[in-house]
Amino acid sequence: MRVMEEVATLVRSCGRCELCRGRTNAVPGAGDIQTEIMFIGEAPGQNEDREGLPFIGASGKFLDQLLESIELKRDDVFITNIVKCRPPGNRDPLPDEIAACSSYLDTQIDAINPMMIVTLGRFSMSKWFPNERISRIHGQARTIDKRVVVPMYHPAAALHQASLRATIEADFERLPRILAAAREQLSSANGDPDPANQMRLF
Ligand code: URA
Ligand code: SF4
Repeated sequence: MRVMEEVATLVRSCGRCELCRGRTNAVPGAGDIQTEIMFIGEAPGQNEDREGLPFIGASGKFLDQLLESIELKRDDVFITNIVKCRPPGNRDPLPDEIAACSSYLDTQIDAINPMMIVTLGRFSMSKWFPNERISRIHGQARTIDKRVVVPMYHPAAALHQASLRATIEADFERLPRILAAAREQLSSANGDPDPANQMRLF
């Protein structure tokens, strides 16, 4: 799809925020652009910045395992981040950086038009659930703008905190059923007169 290549090209030469200064490589995202499922993390880390690919360090290995547990490979989904360049020292992305980068993500979402978006960590969660706490809503699917959005803990957080690991594993296990329910409900909800309708699945 040409749009996806255009976004990647723009991102690689982007100077819209301060994060352009420290990057080795921008990380536009990778995977199947015809997929039903998009995963959106936080920001590239050191390995990602070096290679220009998302989630290839320790948390990426864990994400691969989580995907494998539901019989998916990373090539079956599209993986990207809320900001496309590495923040210095892996600090949190700042609100103005997230805002500067958001149109790239919006264009990617429009182009892929996924049935399901899985947010990894609180920064991508906040795009759809601005005032929520991840500890309260992780794993709960909501229908927003005719897609299902499922907030999850960040794999890096789960790696560093043993108790969260079981939680994220359990949340992942439910994804296939949520996706199946989404296929059914979203196709029957086509033409829903109330666009603000936020269906709760499971
Ligand atoms: N963490 C993220 O949020 N994204 C990556 O691409 C890698 C680690
Ligand atoms: Fe541009 Fe996003 Fe990189 Fe900032 S983080 S320089 S907005 S691509």
